[in-house]
Amino acid sequence: MIRVENLVKVYSTGAIRVEALRRLNLEVGRGEFVAIMGPSGSGKSTLMHILGCLDTPTSGRYFLDGEDVSQMEGNDLAAIRNRKIGFIFQSFNLLPRLTAVDNVELPLLYRGLPARERRRRAEALLEKLGLGDRLHHRPAELSGGQQQRVAIARALAGDPPLILADEPTGNLDSHSGLEVMQTLLEVHASGHTVVLITHDASVAAQAERIVRLRDGLAEEGQKEKGEGK
Ligand SMILES: Nc1ncnc2c1ncn2[C@@H]1O[C@H](COP(=O)(O)OP(=O)(O)OP(=O)(O)O)[C@@H](O)[C@H]1O
Ligand SMILES: [Mg+2]
Repeated sequence: MIRVENLVKVYSTGAIRVEALRRLNLEVGRGEFVAIMGPSGSGKSTLMHILGCLDTPTSGRYFLDGEDVSQMEGNDLAAIRNRKIGFIFQSFNLLPRLTAVDNVELPLLYRGLPARERRRRAEALLEKLGLGDRLHHRPAELSGGQQQRVAIARALAGDPPLILADEPTGNLDSHSGLEVMQTLLEVHASGHTVVLITHDASVAAQAERIVRLRDGLAEEGQKEKGEGK
C-alpha cells in the first residue's frame, strides 16, 4: 500500500536547515495495521503529512497504492488524497455547525454522490459505529469518544483503502481511548490499511507492527514478548 524510498524532508527557515527525514525507508503492506512511535521531533508528523499527500518530500520517492506520488502537486495530490486516504486527527476536526450525519456525508459531497445515497451511507456507518441514536447531534453535544467515532465514520465514508490516524486517542480518557482503538481494530479487520501515530505504548501494542522513528530514520521495532495480542 505504501512504499517510501530514501525519503528526505528538509525545512529551511532563514539560515537554519532542519533535516526532519533523512533517507527514510518504509513499506506498509495492503491490509496491515502499523503504529509509528518516536520521541518529539523525530519526524512523525512530517512523515504523516507526506504519507497523507498533504506535503511533498524534498527528495526520495513515495509510491501510494502503486502510484508514484512524490512528484505530484496541487490538484493531482488532492485528488489522490480524496480517493485513497481517510484521516483521523487528535482533535477530531469535525465541523461544529454540522450534525454527525452531515459531517460524515461531507467527503461524499465532493464525490458527487446523489443526496439520498449520501445520507444512506452516512447513517449506515454511524449505526455500525454505535451512534445510530446520535445522528442529528452536533459535535458539542457528543462526548469526546463519540466525536472521534463520528470522525472515524467520516474517514470511512468514501471507502478509502488507507486510514491515517495521528494520535487518535490523545485527547480521550482511557475508557474512550479503548473504545476508539476497538473501532480502529474493526476498521482494520474489515480490510483497510491503518497507519497510526501514537506516543502511547499500550495503544501501539495493539498494532501488528511498530515502526520507531529516531532523528528522521525508521527502525523496525520487533514487538516485545507479551506486547499486544
Ligand atoms: N514547518 C516546519 N518548518 C521548520 N522546521 C520544521 C517544520 N515542521 C517540523 N520541523 C522540524 O522538523 C523536525 C521534525 O518535526 P515533526 O513535527 O515531524 O516531529 P514529531 O515527531 O511529529 O514531534 P512531536 O512528537 O513533538 O509531534 C523537528 O526538529 C521540527 O523542529
Ligand atoms: Mg508531531
